[in-house]
Amino acid sequence: MKFYQLTPEERRALLTKQGIKLDAIDPATLHQLDQLSENVVGQLRLPVGLVPNLLVNGQRYWVPMATEEPSVVAAANHGANIFSKNGGVTAQSDRQGLDGQIILQSTSDFEPTALRTLFPQLIEQANHEFASLVKYGGGVKRIEMRQKAELIYLKVLVDPAEAMGANKVNSILEFLAIKMEKLPGIKAKLFAILSNYPSQLTTVRVKLMVNTIGGLAVANRIALLSKIGQTDVYRAVTNNKGIMNGVHAALIATGNDSRAVDAACGVLASQSGQYASLSKWYVQGDNLCGELTLPLAIGTVGGSITARSDVRQNYRILGKKITTAELANVIATIGLANNLAALLAISTDGIQKGHMKLQSRNLVANLSATTQEKEQVLQLLTQNREYSQAAAVKFLQQVREKE
Ligand code: MEV
Repeated sequence: MKFYQLTPEERRALLTKQGIKLDAIDPATLHQLDQLSENVVGQLRLPVGLVPNLLVNGQRYWVPMATEEPSVVAAANHGANIFSKNGGVTAQSDRQGLDGQIILQSTSDFEPTALRTLFPQLIEQANHEFASLVKYGGGVKRIEMRQKAELIYLKVLVDPAEAMGANKVNSILEFLAIKMEKLPGIKAKLFAILSNYPSQLTTVRVKLMVNTIGGLAVANRIALLSKIGQTDVYRAVTNNKGIMNGVHAALIATGNDSRAVDAACGVLASQSGQYASLSKWYVQGDNLCGELTLPLAIGTVGGSITARSDVRQNYRILGKKITTAELANVIATIGLANNLAALLAISTDGIQKGHMKLQSRNLVANLSATTQEKEQVLQLLTQNREYSQAAAVKFLQQVREKE
């Protein structure tokens, strides 16, 4: 039998036979996970932390974040609290839809206008075939065409309503491509697939009184840092990593496709021809203003969301009725909050001060010690401001000598 044909228990038994020690997993969970992916043998756990006070468009949200990186949830909270003191952020999601691509090969007698006149009819046929999507407010909105030598590039805009929509868009594209390849002037279909080009854009803006972030001098330093990120790629990519710290954590917690967002962010950050920071901060009078636009092809239904009870729990925390546009607003705000906290730290004390305090929990987790010993070592690391694995080992020895 092939590996993929085995049950998850049989796969685990095979690994155990090879001498690999596996963590225990409850059979029901194992079987649920086996429905989501292939060749499943176990699970990976992530802590879910909360931002309890994110004020977006006048509404307060509790935002779950799933991340293993210490400081990320603390940073999001720090940023969120500053936003809250300043009346929160304004955010807007322009959910036009996703672009799909159909690429056809033409014959020498291909007539572009003949194909173009069929677009309204093709859209109607697709929307009839995928009527359930139309019922939820989505559907095919537009088809555009350009030609390069013998290749015909079709861009199909599909509104996936409240879902992320990758599967639906791909089905629609294949439906349209099959119809198109039978038309006169078309030699063959090359491919039909969703494009991850930036779409479903969300913009968030905030205006902070400088006295809520440590004064005008700090605001000016943040603005300067932000300016550096517009031209210096080394800073820009790190700035964007800080934004993605929060965005990823919220995407993972809500069962969304973080890979699609990452890929689209790379394109958006390079859109001027120069890779740049996705966020901008500038001083205006007594205010530090920040803004961030992100491509957030996300959903609140469909995909694995309904199938995963851990994800469903996070939606209950967010408020069950959250719309996809609202969730996009929340996620972009978390990105800007993480960005602000990072900029504040690096333009004042430096990142390590707060960071290492939280990182020390990782150092302690690596020790083979009792919970009580670990707590004492954690205290000693913080008291002495020594944040290294060697220091953790040294303090453990001290604790044990005293016992
Ligand atoms: C670390 O995970 C993220 C930061 O480096 C982001 C930044 O420098 O803006 C702190």
